[in-house]
Amino acid sequence: MFCWRASIVSALVLAALEPARASQEPLVDNGASITKRRQLHGRFLQVTDFHPDPFYKVYSSIDETGACHRGHGPAGYYGAETSDCDSPISLVNATFDWIRDELKDSIDFVIWTGDSARHDNDEKIPRNVQQVTQLNQLLVDKFYEVFAKNQDEPDDDPTNDLVVPVIPTFGNNDILPHNIFERGPNLWTRRYLDIWRPFIPEVQKHSFDQGGWFYVEAIPNHLAVVSLNSLYFFNSNSAVDGCAAKSEPGYRQLDWLRIQLQYLRDRNMKAIITGHVPPARTANKSNWDETCWQKYTLWMHQYRDVIVATLYGHMNTDHFIVQDFEEVDQDVVDGYEIIKNYNNRGMVAAADQQFGIQSATSYLKDLRKSWTKLPKPQADEDAEALKKGKKHKGKKPHGPDDYDAEIGGRYAERFSISHVSPSVVPNYFPTIRVYEYNITGLDKKLPRTNEHISELYATETPEDERNFEEDMIAEDEDLEAERKKKKKKKPKKHRFTVPKPPSKSAPPGPAYSPQSLTLLGFVQYYANLTRINNDSFEDDAEQQRWKDGKHHGKKPFDEDHKPHPTNFTYEVLYDTRSDKVYDLEDLTTRSYLRLAQRIAGMKPRKSDVQMSEAGLEELEADEAFNADEDQGHVDITKKKHKKKGDKKKKSPKGNKPWYTFVRRAFVDTLEPDDIEEEFGV
Ligand SMILES: *[C@@H]1O[C@H](CO)[C@@H](O)[C@H](O)[C@H]1NC(C)=O
Ligand SMILES: *[C@@H]1O[C@H](CO)[C@@H](O)[C@H](O)[C@H]1NC(C)=O
Ligand SMILES: *[C@@H]1O[C@H](CO)[C@@H](O)[C@H](O)[C@H]1NC(C)=O
Ligand SMILES: *[C@@H]1O[C@H](CO)[C@@H](O)[C@H](O)[C@H]1NC(C)=O
Ligand SMILES: *[C@@H]1O[C@H](CO)[C@@H](O)[C@H](O)[C@H]1NC(C)=O
Ligand SMILES: *[C@@H]1O[C@H](CO)[C@@H](O)[C@H](O)[C@H]1NC(C)=O
Repeated sequence: MFCWRASIVSALVLAALEPARASQEPLVDNGASITKRRQLHGRFLQVTDFHPDPFYKVYSSIDETGACHRGHGPAGYYGAETSDCDSPISLVNATFDWIRDELKDSIDFVIWTGDSARHDNDEKIPRNVQQVTQLNQLLVDKFYEVFAKNQDEPDDDPTNDLVVPVIPTFGNNDILPHNIFERGPNLWTRRYLDIWRPFIPEVQKHSFDQGGWFYVEAIPNHLAVVSLNSLYFFNSNSAVDGCAAKSEPGYRQLDWLRIQLQYLRDRNMKAIITGHVPPARTANKSNWDETCWQKYTLWMHQYRDVIVATLYGHMNTDHFIVQDFEEVDQDVVDGYEIIKNYNNRGMVAAADQQFGIQSATSYLKDLRKSWTKLPKPQADEDAEALKKGKKHKGKKPHGPDDYDAEIGGRYAERFSISHVSPSVVPNYFPTIRVYEYNITGLDKKLPRTNEHISELYATETPEDERNFEEDMIAEDEDLEAERKKKKKKKPKKHRFTVPKPPSKSAPPGPAYSPQSLTLLGFVQYYANLTRINNDSFEDDAEQQRWKDGKHHGKKPFDEDHKPHPTNFTYEVLYDTRSDKVYDLEDLTTRSYLRLAQRIAGMKPRKSDVQMSEAGLEELEADEAFNADEDQGHVDITKKKHKKKGDKKKKSPKGNKPWYTFVRRAFVDTLEPDDIEEEFGV
């Protein structure tokens, strides 16, 4: 019987005492492990923002005072779509059941980006530490249920029984009070060290306790998934203050990240970076403290040969973010902390309240506006000019990279992309996302979780750990020295260690040029709760007290009404690999840069702006057909009428990529008319 705890301890002890012998000591029983090896599938799951709510009551009121906990209203069996209510346990269970039935055997790991407790949105039922802990434990238990090993497999260790790695992250609602995360070690790092013990590798436990950051070798020796505690970067966390001072946990986390990414580079490994709050930063909204954004963005640039992708949640809205390295302050590039007050930019810190549809609307518009300023890849223009039989207009290029100097060479290395997945909690519809990545050239067969964790232990020596500790102690001493100096002189510019860039000979990383581990696409799944809940409400014009949304002005059922939900299922909303509008060959930075520009309406393609009369009719017929199917009636007259009126105005599909992007941002819960009105497409 294999017992990994014992093996690791003995391996580490042996490694420390007798390294030569230890290296010959097999860590695992190879005979047994051959039959237990897991297959790589080239797919992984991201789930985010579950927000389970044990107080959810079916057919309660969805307004602010009801909060889906009391009163009489339209809260459906599997959740109240397009409301601010949290997820009923039925939705959590149905989601895990679906994952078990449809995904479990075809994914390689799970990225779980936080917010695994209900919101603090009901004055009558305030949250407490025990509740927040229990809700997180509930989700851990569900992961166990789904990804537990078969009972008949030989295994005598009760603490690690998952068939694939699951990598969790702190959300801003996973702590109390929400958003406030102090420097570690603290109550929460301790608590989650316990709740997440099956997920955090033994050697990472110490650094996790320092602030909730860690990484897992999701594919041993090939790919690490780094879980950042984004709350140390988060503007709404008033317990910390950015990333410029050495005493700040944000500073420490970035320093830790630099050391890990360098270590991974040295081992010729790649990394996926994950966190909860994404680095959103537009004219009017910035999620992160600017000092953190600046250094993080520099890190992403310096380790662009290592980083496969960066994945976040939190905003509930399906979108992506483009980071431009040219916006990193020259002082930061040179290794000086910025002490300027960046809030002069007039940015609004993310508000305490939820990111609602109104703020999402202005945010998406700002996002689009910023994309109109993106430089265009010269090669694209040339290719198009060539097609039209025109000659190259600009100055004659000397080499292939000259074509694209503006975007950082032909791989667009001036930029990086953050992917933001929408949520399970049905602010719109519940969603989950499955990424596909290139597994060419990787060992297709991997040891199972137990063994790969023990391999991990073998690769990280106690010496690595000691070095890191020493670094940290040295920094504390630096900090003390600085404090003393400060008393005498005015503060001077503080220096930090700038991460090393990729070596000159290093080929571009997987986020830039297609290769092993490059993300090839994702499938966005959604559950249509309107259909699944199967509640047909009567309209009631006098019921104005309900919040705007799908249920506005609906009359609640009688007290004794029983729910009749249909079978729960997630369906494909879109698949980037086959989607005609996005037309993404892969998820490389360059592919996304093009998409961002098409969404912004710069460089539109013919197919983006114009639709033949036949095409438009087809689209409308499709919509009418769907409406017919789903609602049992079609308002043809309205559609026909609208079409006539629209001929003079812009067509609602005037910018197809923008229209599609907005539709998807709200998980297809907005009516085309509303999109047209709000977003002017
Ligand atoms: C959800 O699943 C758990 C088992 O994991 C079960 O105990 C619980 O009753 C289920 N709840 C609902 C509402 O389906
Ligand atoms: C964002 O800020 C710009 C100016 O900085 C302003 O023109 C614009 O209206 C703002 N957008 C929103 C949605 O508030
Ligand atoms: C996958 O990676 C291999 C080599 O690493 C490369 O040859 C191939 O083109 C990649 N496939 C795709 C679809 O990008
Ligand atoms: C939908 O609900 C109605 C009652 O409102 C019920 O008769 C019907 O069977 C339900 N549909 C399904 C597919 O369960
Ligand atoms: C719903 O699920 C049940 C049990 O799995 C199955 O027997 C039934 O046919 C399904 N109904 C529909 C409409 O798919
Ligand atoms: C969801 O279902 C409702 C009711 O069946 C339907 O009207 C709506 O078009 C569906 N939406 C999506 C995005 O599937």
